[in-house]
Amino acid sequence: MANMAVRLAGAGASGLVLFNRFVQPDILLDELEVAPHLVLSTSDELRLALRWIAILRGRVRASLAATGGAHTAEDVLKLLLAGADCVMLASSLLRKGPTHVAAVISSIEKWMTEREYVSVEQMKGSLSQQACPDPAAFERTNYMKALTSYTSKLA
Ligand SMILES: Cc1cc2nc3c(=O)[nH]c(=O)nc-3n(C[C@H](O)[C@H](O)[C@H](O)COP(=O)(O)O)c2cc1C
Repeated sequence: MANMAVRLAGAGASGLVLFNRFVQPDILLDELEVAPHLVLSTSDELRLALRWIAILRGRVRASLAATGGAHTAEDVLKLLLAGADCVMLASSLLRKGPTHVAAVISSIEKWMTEREYVSVEQMKGSLSQQACPDPAAFERTNYMKALTSYTSKLA
C-alpha cells in the first residue's frame, strides 16, 4: 500500500483519497435478482484510513484525504492528528443531513480551544507514525493483546 502510494505520487498524483468504500450489490433469493445494497458506514470503519494516513504522513508528496467511517468531531480530530489534510463525510450526512457539518465544526473548534491549538495546521499529523512516541503501534498486529483486552471486557 505504501509503495503504491509513493508510486502514484511519483507519477504525478497531487492527492490520494484513503479509502473509497464500495457500494456492493446483493442477490435477492426470492426474486433471483441482483440488487443494489446500500449499507452506510459507522465510526468503527475509521481505523483503516486512520492507520494508513498516519503511516503515509511525511512519507509521500501528496495531500492525504480521509474517507470511510468519519461521523463525529472526534473521528475528524483523530484523522487530522494522524495527518489527514482533509476529511470527507458521506454516510453521516445521509443520516443526519447537511446541518451536521456545522455541529461537527463547532465541536472541533471547542476541542481545539480547550487544548489551546491555534490552527488545524498545528495539530495536523502530530500523532502520525513519524511523530508519535510509539511508532510501532501503527504497524504491529498484536492479536494477543487485542484478544486479551476483548475477553477481559466480557469477564
Ligand atoms: C450514496 C453514496 C453514493 C456514493 N457515490 C460515490 C461515487 O459516485 N463515487 C465514489 O468514488 N464514491 C462514492 N461513494 C463513497 C463515498 O465517497 C465514501 O468513500 C464512502 O461512503 C465512505 O465514507 P463514509 O463512511 O463517510 O460514508 C458514495 C457513498 C454513498 C453512501
